[in-house]
Amino acid sequence: MFQLKTNFPENFLWGGATAANQLEGASDVGGKGLSVSDVYIFDENIPKEHWSDQWHMMTHRQVEEAQNPSSEKYYPKRQGIDFYHNYKEDIALFAEMGFKCYRMSLAWTRIFPNGDELEPNEEGLAFYDRVFDELNKHGIEPIVSLSHYEMPLYLVTEYGGWVNRKVIDFYVRFATTVFNRYKDKVKYWITFNEINCVKHHPYVSVGIIEENHPHIEQAKYQGAHHQFVASALAIKACKEINPEAKVGCMISYQLLVPYSCNPDDIQATVENQRTSLFFSDVQARGYYPSYTARMFAEKNVVLEIEPEDEQIMREYPVDYVSFSYYMSSAISAHPEKLEGAVGNLITGGIKNPYLPTSEWGWQVDPKGLRTALNQLYDRYQKPLFIAENGLGAVDTIEPGDIIQDDYRISYLRDHIKQIKEAISDGVDVFGYTSWGCIDMISASTNQMSKRYGYIYVDQDDRGRGTKRRIKKKSFDWYKKVIASNGEQLD
Ligand code: BG6
Repeated sequence: MFQLKTNFPENFLWGGATAANQLEGASDVGGKGLSVSDVYIFDENIPKEHWSDQWHMMTHRQVEEAQNPSSEKYYPKRQGIDFYHNYKEDIALFAEMGFKCYRMSLAWTRIFPNGDELEPNEEGLAFYDRVFDELNKHGIEPIVSLSHYEMPLYLVTEYGGWVNRKVIDFYVRFATTVFNRYKDKVKYWITFNEINCVKHHPYVSVGIIEENHPHIEQAKYQGAHHQFVASALAIKACKEINPEAKVGCMISYQLLVPYSCNPDDIQATVENQRTSLFFSDVQARGYYPSYTARMFAEKNVVLEIEPEDEQIMREYPVDYVSFSYYMSSAISAHPEKLEGAVGNLITGGIKNPYLPTSEWGWQVDPKGLRTALNQLYDRYQKPLFIAENGLGAVDTIEPGDIIQDDYRISYLRDHIKQIKEAISDGVDVFGYTSWGCIDMISASTNQMSKRYGYIYVDQDDRGRGTKRRIKKKSFDWYKKVIASNGEQLD
């Protein structure tokens, strides 16, 4: 009756993850429209500590300038690493590592360039047919996010983003189109990448330009509500088209721990963690959790909810819960005098003195991944999928095209060991896709030099370089990990 598991399951999905807006490039090819991410600039003359400011807040002025064809700014995500033209070679490298799956996203703007068209763009659909066929040729299972920080910019400038209920229909049209088109090619879907990140970067998550919204919390949660409804409607459509398909949610899970055993820190941690778990609570259970009333009252948020919303959300919760995990952070009820932590998601987090940090200041906590897996499984009792995990670092090429990224191997190894521990704890986790299996543009800083890949791409922060692909030391290491189904980690 009680069977202790000490290995990864036989059919465990090992692979890597990317997002269209960070790697495809070719933003003016095949009728593609501009997405919210095509607006981000990289400029080394701006002080480094401000590179991710635009990630947290976008202005009208920046959006207007980006739409001006004569803008002289550099927009790295328009060029990506040109996966659009290199997908065959890149997928062949993934196959050489033995990938069982590949987590990717669709550029909504390749298929509906502005987002509100009635008919899809055939060229965009055909591109993903080619990508899926290539994956299939190599026996790699695609895991596809419908929306990964790449909604059409037009839906922001003309409709005001997800705060506007009409965007639900546009998204559902997009989702239904791709479910129909790829029903025989894709089994695993994710409706929204890191849906909880609306809290930290509302522009790229729900298309909010803060200047328009004096009551920003209201706008964020209204946008999130529309995404919840859209996700449930998409799941309904997906199941009608292919009852075998599995649809998941995806949150950014940054484990939070109390800074001390002071009861105030413990309560502050529970409340803070809930601001992320709120999103998976809704999507995994199909209804708003009981703490919502107090949370909204304290934020003065009053949602506009249509009578049919609650029913559709209840009827179509997700099949599995996926998440990204990069770091943990400590929480104090009195953070004023303590040193703050830094990272993609941390607002108000405190530096944990027990943890080392990456070159970008992110706190490295492999054991936190085991805790996170246990917490999420205890909470939802649904299969889990680790959709992102990895180390952003600067890599150096030695003569002979050698890149000795032992720091990355060590980070990944330590995290994979903890997944195995969680499996022994009884957690049902069916896959792991490390982030940025091939180097690409950073989401938050728009740098190229913040690299996560097993495959190096010869390109600098300004987009200069040959774009040649070079295998790093971690490439062969990961190949062995996959071949041994997680047994050979050294
Ligand atoms: C996740 C995102 O939050 O973190 C990815 O889903 C992103 O898109 C990744 O690239 C790493 O963040 P960054 O800013 O280092 O690229």
